[in-house]
Amino acid sequence: MPHENPDPAVMREHYRSVLLHESDLAATPMEQFDRWFGDAADRGLPEPNAMVVSTADTDGRPSSRTVLMKRFDERGFVFYTNYTSRKGTELAANPHVSLLFPWHRIARQVIVTGTAERVGRDETAAYFRTRPHGSQLGAWASEQSSVIPSREKLMERYEQLAERYPEGEQVPVPPQWGGFRVTPVSVEFWQGHENRLHDRLRYVQQEEGRGWRVERLCP
Ligand SMILES: Cc1cc2nc3c(=O)[nH]c(=O)nc-3n(C[C@H](O)[C@H](O)[C@H](O)COP(=O)(O)O)c2cc1C
Repeated sequence: MPHENPDPAVMREHYRSVLLHESDLAATPMEQFDRWFGDAADRGLPEPNAMVVSTADTDGRPSSRTVLMKRFDERGFVFYTNYTSRKGTELAANPHVSLLFPWHRIARQVIVTGTAERVGRDETAAYFRTRPHGSQLGAWASEQSSVIPSREKLMERYEQLAERYPEGEQVPVPPQWGGFRVTPVSVEFWQGHENRLHDRLRYVQQEEGRGWRVERLCP
C-alpha cells in the first residue's frame, strides 16, 4: 500500500461531557435543537448545519447524502436541492426521510425521522435570491444526479448561462430546484459519555395536538 493509514479498529475517543437529564430538555424538540445548534456553532464546529439526509426508493432501497439545512423552526427543517435529483425523485414517491447531524467534535448527534414536502415557490424564490450569483447559475447548469460525459460539458453549460445572465442581472429560479421541509415525527438527542454509557433521549410525536413524549433509549 502506498500510504499507511491508522487502523480504525484501535481508534477510540473518550467522551467527557455533562450528562443529559430528562429535566434539562426543552418542551419541544425544535427548541432543544435550537439550544444544541447554538452550542455547536459556539464551539466553532465547521458547517454545523450540514446534515445527512437518507431517503429510500419505493422498494425500500436507501440512499444518503449530505446537504445544508437552511432554516429550522417549529414546522421543521428546510434544505434546498434539485427536485429531479435522486433524493428529489425518491422523496416524491416516498416522503419518509431521516436526517442526521453528526456533531462528532462535541460528542453529539441529532437524528430526525419524519416526512418531507416541497416548500412553497415563494419561499424557494426568497431563498434563491439570497444565494450568490454563481450558485444561482450553478443550480441551472447542473442536472443533478444525471450522468455527464465530462467536467468540460458542465463548464460549457455554466459559461453559456453566465453570458445569458451576467453578474448583476436577476437569475430566474430554476423550476426543477427548490426546498423541502422535513416535519419531524421523532427527534433523538445523543450525547456521548465514557464507557459507552451515552445518553439518548428521543422526542416522539403524540397523536394530533397532544405534544411530545420523551423516552430514554439504551446506548
Ligand atoms: C457539505 C456538503 C453540503 C452539501 N449541500 C448540499 C445542498 O444543500 N443541496 C444539495 O442538493 N446538495 C448538497 N450537497 C451535495 C449532496 O451531498 C449530493 O451530492 C447531491 O445533492 C446529489 O445527491 P443525490 O444524487 O443523492 O440526490 C452537499 C454536499 C456536501 C459534502
